[in-house]
Amino acid sequence: MTALLLLHGPNLNLLGTREPEIYGRHTLDDINALAIAYMQSHSVELRTQQSNHEGELVDALHDARTWAQGVVFNPGAYTHTSIALRDAISAIELPVVEVHLSNIHARESFRHHSMIAPVVLGQVVGFGWRGYLLALDALLGHLGVLPEPKL
Ligand code: DQA
Repeated sequence: MTALLLLHGPNLNLLGTREPEIYGRHTLDDINALAIAYMQSHSVELRTQQSNHEGELVDALHDARTWAQGVVFNPGAYTHTSIALRDAISAIELPVVEVHLSNIHARESFRHHSMIAPVVLGQVVGFGWRGYLLALDALLGHLGVLPEPKL
């Protein structure tokens, strides 16, 4: 059975109440439940994890090597600063899709740069909670779990 990790970084535990005009009103539990149900409909196991600590996110990525075939990851503010997360993604050799609820390119200039962008499969930004489902779809397509359309 295909298994994937949905990993959330700092401050994302506050979703629902944190700047809802930017990040929406869904809580992290809502998003995780939607994503798990969506993956169940494809017979894919989805485990979810959130941490406010950079090292714990590194550990979660390392651990994913032992059981997951891919990762959907919103590193929060560490996106813009963390060489350690970038190195972890390179090291684990799993496909990782980067997600941001907000359109980081339309916000403050310090959010425009992603340290992890060069080592991820791709990015989904600006679509709120739906971005996680889009990212999971992209990952399943990459892994060959979703059928290719007949041309
Ligand atoms: C975020 C964007 C980051 O710049 C910010 O620090 C976050 C959330 C997003 O999902 O839009 O914490 O990753």
